[in-house]
Parts: sequence; C-alpha cells; structure tokens
Amino acid sequence: MAKPYDVGPGDQVHPGNPVTVDRYTPAARINHWITAASLVLLALSGLALFHPSLFFLTGLFGGGETTRAIHPWIGVVLFFGFLGLFLRFWRANLWKGEDGTWMRRLSDVLRGHEEKLPEVGKYNAGQKMVFWLMSVLIITLICSGLVLWDQYFAEYTTVGQKRAAVLIHALAAIVIICVWIVHVYAAIWVRGTIRAMVKGSVTGGWAWRHHRKWLRELVTGKGNDKGTGAKPAE
Ligand code: HEM
Repeated sequence: MAKPYDVGPGDQVHPGNPVTVDRYTPAARINHWITAASLVLLALSGLALFHPSLFFLTGLFGGGETTRAIHPWIGVVLFFGFLGLFLRFWRANLWKGEDGTWMRRLSDVLRGHEEKLPEVGKYNAGQKMVFWLMSVLIITLICSGLVLWDQYFAEYTTVGQKRAAVLIHALAAIVIICVWIVHVYAAIWVRGTIRAMVKGSVTGGWAWRHHRKWLRELVTGKGNDKGTGAKPAE
C-alpha cells in the first residue's frame, strides 16, 4: 500500500452527526487569506497603473504616487504569502495517475456527474492545475516586477530588458486574474468548499463526495487505492 502523500498536518476525521473533517489549520487559513487579500489589492493597484481609463482606481490607494509606491511592496507580500502556501501544499498537489483520467472526463465534472470520475485525494486535477499555474505566474510576476522596480533596481537592468518585462508582467497579471476567477468560482460552485477555508473543516459527506481517496486515507491511516467501502454519515 502506498503512503498517503496528501494528508496534511491537522487533517483529521471527527465522528458525530454530521461527521466533520479538519482540512486546514488556523495558520494555513491565515496564510491563505493574507495571500488572497494581497492578490486582490495587487490586481486593483496594477489595473490602476495599467490603463488611463482605470486610473481612477488609484483613489483607493491615496493617489497615483502612493499606488505606484505600494504596488511592488504588496507584490512582495503576495510572493512570501504564496511561498508559505506552496511549502504547505506542494506535496498534495503532485500529479497522480487518476488526475489524467479526471481531466479527460471534464465534461462529467462540468455536468456534476461525479460518480463517473475516479476517486481523488485532497485535491482534484483542476485544483492542482490552478496551484501550479499560480506558482509559475507568481514567480513570473515577481521576477518581471523586480526588473521594473526602478526605485531600487534601475541600474541593474537595461531599457530593452525593462520593455520585455513590462509585457511579460502585464500578460502574467491578466492570466493570473483569470486563474483567480476560476479558483473563486470553483470554490463557490462546489457547495461546502468555502467553509474549508473559513472554518477549517468540511463535512464527512463533502469529503466522501469530492475527495474520497483523501477521506479513506484519513480513516485508514494509509494511502489506499482500493479503500474500505465504508461510507461516513452525511
Ligand atoms: C478572495 C479570493 C479567494 C477565495 C474565495 C478562495 C477560496 C479558497 C478555498 C475555499 C479553498 C479551499 C479549497 C479546498 O480545500 O478544496 C482555497 C484553497 C487554496 N487557495 Fe484560495 N481563495 C481565494 C484566493 C486565493 C489566491 C489569491 C490564491 C493565490 C494566489 C489562492 C491560493 C489557494 C491555494 C494554493 C489553495 C490550496 C488548494 C490547492 O493547493 O490546490 N487562493 N481557496
């Protein structure tokens, strides 16, 4: 039997009516919400600087100058915030055999035919793709952002490098905003998910329905491809 790769510290099943399953520690949730807030603030301040028609958004940050000054610092917060999430969750986001099958049956995912999908661990293939895309995009944004941070790094880069960085930074920002919309939409669309990041726990029914392999691992204490077949109370 394989060892569970995706059971995090603090993940635990509590018998009762309903059964509840701890999914995120308070530290993981604080880490998540700091990261989420910084991305929202970055998107708003970045869009304000992106196009004259959006310049009015600088009003939220005390004007054009302060927006330009604090945008890179919020980027630093996002980078370290996401680094914390990355270190907590990277193992559980490793690509597994069932993820390819899950992706190929995306039409069943969208139609809500979950019984036709393979059992998945703590994260499904969609969540894993969002995780790795965010990782790559945040590295791209911080690297291109540093090239553009003239206040401290002007002398280390050429004008040509800055021109390329502006383009890469803007493209990566547009893509991460789209990925973020998918992430938030999925969190709202799959009922009972938001509670995982707010309260830290989910119901046994939610875990059984959406992340059965993870639940089996928690119940049996080991990575188990076949499972016990035991169904917890909803
Ligand atoms: C306000 C917007 C956001 C909401 C409502 C939200 C909601 C959630 C929820 C409910 C979960 C738990 C999902 C589950 O356990 O199945 C989650 C997980 C996660 N979120 Fe967010 N989130 C937001 C913004 C962000 C941002 C901006 C980032 C990163 C830039 C982010 C990164 C993550 C990561 C890495 C996980 C762990 C899931 C995984 O590893 O695939 N979230 N989020």
